[in-house]
Amino acid sequence: MAAQNPMQAPGLTQATYPDAFPERNPLDRLRIYIADEISRILDVEKTLVFGGLDRAASLDSGDLLLAVPRLRIQGIKPGELAVKIASQFDLRLTSGQLKKPIADGIYVRFFIETKYGFNYLVPDILHESSQYGFNTSSGLLNRDEPTTGRKRMIVEFSSPNIAKRFHAGHVRSAIIGNFLSNLYEVSGYEVIRMNYLGDWGRQYGLLACGWKRYGDEDAFVKDPIGHLLEIYVKICADFEPEDKAYAAARDRGEDTAMLESQGVLGEAKANFKGMEDGDEEALKLWRKFRALSIENFKETYARLNISFTVYSGESGVLPETMEMAESVQAKLGLTEPFDGATCIDFKKHGAPKLSEAIVRNRNGTTSYLLRDIGAAIQREKEYSMDEMLYVVMNEQDVHLNRLFKSLELMGGEYTALSKKMKHITFGRVAGMSSRKGNVKFLDELITEVAEYMHNVMRKNNDKYEQIENPEQVAEHLGISAILVQDMSGKKIHDYDFDLERMTSFEGDTGPYLQYAHARLASIFRRIDITPAEMLNADFSSLENSTHAANLLRIMMRWPDMVAQTLKTLEANTILTYLFKLAHELSASYDHLRVVNPPEGRAVSAARAALYKAAQQVLRNGMGVLGLTPVDRM
Ligand code: ARG
Repeated sequence: MAAQNPMQAPGLTQATYPDAFPERNPLDRLRIYIADEISRILDVEKTLVFGGLDRAASLDSGDLLLAVPRLRIQGIKPGELAVKIASQFDLRLTSGQLKKPIADGIYVRFFIETKYGFNYLVPDILHESSQYGFNTSSGLLNRDEPTTGRKRMIVEFSSPNIAKRFHAGHVRSAIIGNFLSNLYEVSGYEVIRMNYLGDWGRQYGLLACGWKRYGDEDAFVKDPIGHLLEIYVKICADFEPEDKAYAAARDRGEDTAMLESQGVLGEAKANFKGMEDGDEEALKLWRKFRALSIENFKETYARLNISFTVYSGESGVLPETMEMAESVQAKLGLTEPFDGATCIDFKKHGAPKLSEAIVRNRNGTTSYLLRDIGAAIQREKEYSMDEMLYVVMNEQDVHLNRLFKSLELMGGEYTALSKKMKHITFGRVAGMSSRKGNVKFLDELITEVAEYMHNVMRKNNDKYEQIENPEQVAEHLGISAILVQDMSGKKIHDYDFDLERMTSFEGDTGPYLQYAHARLASIFRRIDITPAEMLNADFSSLENSTHAANLLRIMMRWPDMVAQTLKTLEANTILTYLFKLAHELSASYDHLRVVNPPEGRAVSAARAALYKAAQQVLRNGMGVLGLTPVDRM
């Protein structure tokens, strides 16, 4: 590889193009050359051109595309300007990276000169390897100091409830939250992955009642989450007739306060009150439930390659933090008494859709909302994060909006805090349930899909026998199936859990993506081209191949895709991209043979380099999504 890379943009760029990452994003390098040149031709502002250069939707329509009206030039028709740009564009100034631009109506289309792409980009990708495409965006406060100048982001995700059901909402939150954490991390942020457990509230009072009636020490140690859920289900059943009686009484307009202080509910409330008041007996039991549940959660998350920086929870919110928040609210007249409780009537504070919400319950215990307010304040104090995401299903849209609004209304530092917070909402999954019911839901789900994939693998005995650890591979494939299905649409959309479809090799599925990767791995097992040969390959043989050019041009987009994903926060932006790459790969194999091609070793080396780069891009993309690539399947 030549010492001087003509694709390296001139050094002055950062001042001129603050949004550009030319050193890491090849499309930004092109954008800079084009913007410089168009600004010279039309005397327009460089950043305006830069911002107007979009990726063309399909490879046929270009690599970059400028819609001329975006230059906001008055008095001359965009079509005429497009022609002017195309005809006066001086290619010499772009170091031969671009072909002659094409005027097409109000558009100007730009195509990369593939010769340069092969010679410089392919070795660049091989060289950057697991870093290719990353650190291209706003996560760095100081671009010269990647290790110290990073923004700090809290991603709160999954956040199941102890003893209650771990449901599809918690699974989706885990998948999406992990993806977002990865995305921010590779974009230069310092990410704190936080699991905010539902480990406080009246239901733990209820659970404690259940434990007294049905608790079994041995059963609990064997399967903490399962046993606690079992107890919880039983005690809820005991409570049901009582609950119905309250509802009926309320319907008749009776005051239920007396009733509710008796029976199971009375006992549960007393238990929880004990916890809130710091009663050691009540807390001891609760701590035991919590600790063992966390151990269990950790094991399950680990199968998905997910870990948390911190397990926080509703229980960790200090009484004094919440009292302080309440006093701020009271002073501002935000809260008012309501039937013995305290509430905020959002209708009176410019947010009618949020109606009213209880801050503190009638018997003095805290509400879910108040705990969230306190938690946010404490996180700010402990982490002084720059941003914070709440990855929570859309059923809680109103709750999170109330949380943000409450803080905003509290003024000053609290308003500032509310501005850092963002809800990442997502739709429901229908039919995500496992054979044996709800116990250890996620664990069983993974096992079930993995077993299914294992059976699929067994059908090809020759291949199967060469796989060293088939259980492990089946698990990775199963997880990929689940993850890819979950991330295939926009996250706000509901979808149906469909085992058949997600495990299929046809269509854009997890197994298909894994197959694309494994197929490349198998090629590399069959050749003995060294990394040095690939880096120094003579790429001239690729220049006339449309397949090679397409692969190159798709790979060139990867850093830009990552940067865009940071704006959309949609995993399917990356997924769609990876499938495009996978399809292009499978279309190319017949034309670009790598294993002993008739054209000889030098040609094999050039193709191997191209495929190695493609494999790297696949790996990097799969990694961000949370998939573990397999080499054989
Ligand atoms: N534990 C809650 C539930 O399962 C989700 C927590 C969402 N996060 C929050 N900060 N409220 O419903």
